[in-house]
Amino acid sequence: MLATLSSLVDKIRSAIQLWTLLLTLLPLLLLADYLKHKRPKNYPPGPRRLPFVGNLFQFDLVVSYLHLGIQPFVKKYGNLISLDFGNISSVIITGLPLIKEVCTDMEQNFLKRPRIPSREHVFKDNGIVFSSGQTWKEQRRFALTILKNFGLGKKSLEQRIQEEAQHLVKVIEEEKGQPFDPHFRINNAVSNIICSITFGERFEYEDSQFQELMKLIDATLCSAASVTLVLYNAFPSIFKYLPGPHQTDFRNWEKLKMIVGSIIDSHRKDWNPDEPRDFIDAFLKEMTKYPDKTTTSFNEENLICSTLDLFLAGTETTSTTLRWALLYMALYPEVQEKVHTEIDGVIGQWRQPSTDDRDSMPYTNAVVHEVQRMGNIIPLSIPREVTADTTLAGFHLPKGKMILINLTALHRDPKEWATPDTFNPEHFLENGHFKMRESFLPFSMGKRACPGEHLARTELFIFFTTLLQKFTFKPPVNEKLSLKIRMGLSLTPVSHRICAVPRL
Ligand code: HEM
Ligand SMILES: *[C@@H]1O[C@H](CO)[C@@H](O)[C@H](O)[C@H]1NC(C)=O
Repeated sequence: MLATLSSLVDKIRSAIQLWTLLLTLLPLLLLADYLKHKRPKNYPPGPRRLPFVGNLFQFDLVVSYLHLGIQPFVKKYGNLISLDFGNISSVIITGLPLIKEVCTDMEQNFLKRPRIPSREHVFKDNGIVFSSGQTWKEQRRFALTILKNFGLGKKSLEQRIQEEAQHLVKVIEEEKGQPFDPHFRINNAVSNIICSITFGERFEYEDSQFQELMKLIDATLCSAASVTLVLYNAFPSIFKYLPGPHQTDFRNWEKLKMIVGSIIDSHRKDWNPDEPRDFIDAFLKEMTKYPDKTTTSFNEENLICSTLDLFLAGTETTSTTLRWALLYMALYPEVQEKVHTEIDGVIGQWRQPSTDDRDSMPYTNAVVHEVQRMGNIIPLSIPREVTADTTLAGFHLPKGKMILINLTALHRDPKEWATPDTFNPEHFLENGHFKMRESFLPFSMGKRACPGEHLARTELFIFFTTLLQKFTFKPPVNEKLSLKIRMGLSLTPVSHRICAVPRL
């Protein structure tokens, strides 16, 4: 009896001690947080941060992180806004003049990518998209060479895209004008182009492994918007111990790396250094040039990560844009009719569309650009980091801050676009001629801009024109198509069905 009583007293005493400890620690923790995030002199203004969480809970978490915070922050604070996501302090840049300074004039200070904990968990600092310094320079330069030289092989890249477009037409014809979800067919077709560059082969759409891979990628990119992944990035040291969708996400990434790894293994088996078939072969050859592995980024990890980066970046973005394109055609039949008329006049029904036709097809070209403007699939570009204390528009940007470029604001700027929130190809036309617009930057700009721009634009034009040559896209009877967005690593249409009615 006495013993239990004394142990109870002990327990109470230690509980009190724990509380006193926490209570004494709390002001210290608050002070540490305050000092760590104290805004320096001349720092861009922004909504007040709360201790520990920053601005994380002040508005709709995921939505604002990836896209449209509903608050009209720019009106209140101006073109540089500071926002803290938990531990990550960022500054959001709005407006063409400032975007140009960050991406070109002063780009030396903004070429780095920040360390994103979820990315680092899987890739370390390897690959192209999120690497920095020497690794980034080497990996990006190498990827660009491969992308450029690839057209020189047996078959030009353009020819390959034309052939793939015919495969796509064939599987869509099989739907016989009935409602179907175009998502994975378009993904397969687009992915096959980058597959042929990275893996040296295309896959049949029915190939079950290919379908598994496409589903895995879709799930992975979609879970990038999960709340716990955003929280993991804000508080990695806590959330790494907690269960949740972010753990599934990490497992998916490991699976993707393993799939790429096994493709690399089978390349090694029949590798001929004198006849590189694809990116992987060329990379294997590059690795042999550096016996000392410590001075180069051409190693096993980068082989996997750069291949995966190219494969993912080359699949998701372009196919999402094409899905937006078909959706806009179904919703704007008068625009679609003008595209049909132009195709019939310039190409006819039997010849394959090619990029040589682009100059004689200003309307179709304008439509593709307008789809990219409205689709706006990477709304905050990919984050950068300040590498040296910098003054921008009179504000002080300390080294280490994350920089986000608000492409949505640029693509929807009422001062730049006649009807900013409405699909309107006239934005890119003047007296019947195509007119490029300065405020159109879906691929960003400068040394870190999208290296796949040329490939993407070729694919978009040929796939889109070939599909419109053969089909009229319509909403299914009694189903309403919407422009609602599904959040993910990029902004995609919500899952929907569409009818592709053969034109002949
Ligand atoms: C419509 C299609 C596409 C869009 C809208 C798009 C957009 C972008 C944007 C906004 C960036 C960030 C640039 C920056 O930080 O300034 C980027 C980077 C990148 N894109 Fe694309 N992209 C597309 C297609 C492609 C394709 C087809 C490839 C494959 C070759 C690709 C590969 C990459 C890579 C590797 C990076 C990272 C570059 C670096 O960090 O240096 N993209 N893209
Ligand atoms: C980006 O700009 C859009 C349009 O002006 C705005 O609604 C949105 O809140 C901005 N996004 C962020 C993260 O500041």
